Amino acid sequence: MSRTFYVTTPIYYVNDVPHIGHAYTTLAADVLARYKRIRGYEVFFLTGTDEHGQKVEKAANAAGETPLELADRVVKRFQALWEKLDISYSDFIRTTQERHKKGVAHLFADVLAKGDIYLGEYEDWYCTPCETFWPETQLIDGNCPDCNRPTEKLKEESFFFRMSKYQDKLLAHIEANPEFIQPKSRRNEIISFVKEGLRDLSVSRTTFQWGIPVPENGAHIIYVWFDALANYITALGYPEEGENFGKFWPADVHLIGKDILRFHTVYWPTFLLSAGLPLPRKVFAHGWWTVEGQKMSKSLQNVVEPNMLIDRYGVDAVRYFLLREVPFGLDGDFSHSALIQRINSDLANDLGNLLNRSTAMVHKYFAGQVHEPGDLQEIDRTYRSRTEAMVAQVETNMEELAFSKALQNIWEVVSAGNKYIDETAPWALAKDSGQRERLATVMYCLLESQRIVYFLLSAFMPITAARALNYLGWEGAPTETGFAWGALKAGTVVIKAEALFPRIEGEKS
Ligand code: MSP
Repeated sequence: MSRTFYVTTPIYYVNDVPHIGHAYTTLAADVLARYKRIRGYEVFFLTGTDEHGQKVEKAANAAGETPLELADRVVKRFQALWEKLDISYSDFIRTTQERHKKGVAHLFADVLAKGDIYLGEYEDWYCTPCETFWPETQLIDGNCPDCNRPTEKLKEESFFFRMSKYQDKLLAHIEANPEFIQPKSRRNEIISFVKEGLRDLSVSRTTFQWGIPVPENGAHIIYVWFDALANYITALGYPEEGENFGKFWPADVHLIGKDILRFHTVYWPTFLLSAGLPLPRKVFAHGWWTVEGQKMSKSLQNVVEPNMLIDRYGVDAVRYFLLREVPFGLDGDFSHSALIQRINSDLANDLGNLLNRSTAMVHKYFAGQVHEPGDLQEIDRTYRSRTEAMVAQVETNMEELAFSKALQNIWEVVSAGNKYIDETAPWALAKDSGQRERLATVMYCLLESQRIVYFLLSAFMPITAARALNYLGWEGAPTETGFAWGALKAGTVVIKAEALFPRIEGEKS
């Protein structure tokens, strides 16, 4: 039986165009998906767009478009960026698709039939210009926190979900499954929130039109988060137990930003509990990016546009930087100088140079051919065992979604490779014809260690890794068995590598 792995990103609102915050989650999911595929899993990697709700309706009105026109236009921006960022998703779901609408209506009807949705009245402070209800605690001197205009107390008929009923079950689940909410600090935050008590949740609106109607009650539109969260199962064909739903649900991990944790670890699991469906195995919330020390915002005009970054620095440099710079789960700051520093030091100097030096030497000393290694000496054995240890460390860190640590593990071996050259001094061995076998052994170790390095890097930097593996004479894609030392065969012809990452000189930093 094949092992399966299901990873998701949030579905992005189409009222905004993609920025590095969106690119970050999607990239992390891609690296994980690629890694699991290399490790032999059958992977389903889902992303998509969240196209309903008042926000999108308003943005469309402002742009003089219908919501669907707006969505059709913006969805292309997301899809084009994912292509440029080399994102290997399996499916892209749009909440305006029939398959999704059908699934959401089914889920709503199912929860209703279970007696967990009831019709009630929603009473809160309403800001008419913003068409938004606010709880009293969020008002600022009685005024709307968004536009600062007066609010009035209004009642609206609404369907409610009996979230309160699932409080104990949810808490028990969170406590029995330490892996369910990650990182740990986030888990504690949710535990306290649930312990404070869950209120029933309003899951329909009557103040706007753009959404999925409540089955058999068209005056109500299903709450946008009920609609959006269901994407994780509707994309698999829910409610049909057929191939994908039966095969991939529950998800192995929902990757999200910290701002939408409560929706994913309180709302979503309680909907699933009510519907009698299994809960996702893990929800991992990453931190937020600021830009040169400031919050990213349209009004500050400091939104980092991923297309621009890729054009300027190259896709793999951007992919590397985003996952290396900040431990996944913590907040981080984006700056051009930090990115340039990483490119020059980690990518050009450490990684690129090692490949250049090694392949150039194989050309100089062995006309580009890999030779059978002789017996390994202490220094070779240490280098080999560090390489082997790296594979295991990366596996552990990838399990924990510690991308930055996994990259550190890889870079330790890259640095060890550069040091290995300095210490074995192949140029000195080359001067002594009695040392041919020793020289061949040193070359073998260098190439073999790097082959394994690029196997791992193919999850993070697919284009660079493919280029490097091609220089190293490896044919085809990385395979699970190829992670073992010794897969590189004598007789392989190595190509003299060109610079993988040119240094960036004198740019704004
Ligand atoms: N549509 C909802 C998600 C529904 S999932 C069932 C949504 N969309 S969003 O487009 O506003 O945000 C999507 C993701 O982008 C969130 O995970 C959010 O954390 C992330 N980011 C938005 N700005 C960000 C940063 N500045 N930094 C990192 N991630 C950020 O929420």
